Amino acid sequence: MKVFITRRIPQEGMKILSQAGVCKVSLWDSDEPVPRAELLKGVEGAHGLLCLLSDKIDTEVLDAAGPNLKVISTLSVGFDHMAIDEIKKRGVRVGYTPDVLTDATAELTVALLLATARRLPEGVVEVKNGGWSTWKPLWLCGYGLSGSTVGVIGLGRIGMAIARRLKPFGVKRLLYSGRTAKSYAAEVEGEYVPLDTLVSESDFVVVSCALTPETQGLCNKDFFSKMKNTAVFINTSRGAVVNQEDLYQALSSGQIACAGLDVTTPEPLPTDHPLLTLKNCVVLPHIGSATYSTRGIMAELSANNLLAGLQGTDMPSELKF
Ligand code: NDP
Ligand code: DGY
Repeated sequence: MKVFITRRIPQEGMKILSQAGVCKVSLWDSDEPVPRAELLKGVEGAHGLLCLLSDKIDTEVLDAAGPNLKVISTLSVGFDHMAIDEIKKRGVRVGYTPDVLTDATAELTVALLLATARRLPEGVVEVKNGGWSTWKPLWLCGYGLSGSTVGVIGLGRIGMAIARRLKPFGVKRLLYSGRTAKSYAAEVEGEYVPLDTLVSESDFVVVSCALTPETQGLCNKDFFSKMKNTAVFINTSRGAVVNQEDLYQALSSGQIACAGLDVTTPEPLPTDHPLLTLKNCVVLPHIGSATYSTRGIMAELSANNLLAGLQGTDMPSELKF
């Protein structure tokens, strides 16, 4: 069986595929994205496709692959880059990588939140450029978690892992919103509240929901206008959940205090993007799951998902549509 892999992936995954001896693998052997034309050529007649979140898997790709295609395995937990309805219609199975990246992503979210709220990137720059003249009582002050209200939008696997990590910092109230209340929220004394309540009462708003048609553009002008002027906004879900023009206005006008983003639209964010001119906006290059061990385990899981899809057996992590 023929398999196409759209990028270099950690060797842990490649080893599993080569040792299985059930498929002939062709790989876009680069750390850079596969050009669209090469993707369309590479998937021709493939039985399996191992892709990344940066590959748009739409009707054109599925048509190019043709009727052999049995499985698409994505090296991500997010699946907003795939045309799920069309994939389902064609009876193609999908594997993804939930759980194994939850801890790494929650850790990064906490790091980003603290770096943003306590202005770490600004401080590092001041040390290097000579702006550190003396200890000053009013200089580089930020916001602390102790006694605060944190609002988590999307208390799923990652949202809950973030909440668990933030609570011991002395968070007083943990609010969350989503489509349904969660019984497991009791562990962090989470209060299920309407989105408006979360937005207006939180000192820290953390976005960790999936990108769906309902969450696209959720954080817009109206949303930011309800936040406190002292509030910190953090997004580690997907860039498209945020209207970036509205975020820029909110940050530059002082409507909100600061923002930390691990995800943007587009990715990479152009270096001349207005958000990058703001001192109160910290932007990271989508590194939520980027620990060596997590990426290795993600590669293993996506290889095993792919093999199961090729062989028609149970997948370790199959996306149930
Ligand atoms: P889960 O499926 O466990 O959680 C997703 C959450 O999104 C659920 O709690 C769900 O709430 C919520 N949600 C869905 N629709 C809405 C809505 N309309 N309003 C509010 N909340 C909603 O996924 P994970 O926690 O594993 O991952 C979440 C996302 O994090 C991924 O989809 C991905 O985009 C992103 N991610 C980013 C990473 C990074 O590197 N920055 C790394 C890994 C993931 P409910 O159950 O109530 O519907
Ligand atoms: C995902 O898995 O969806 C992340 O964005 C990258 O790990």
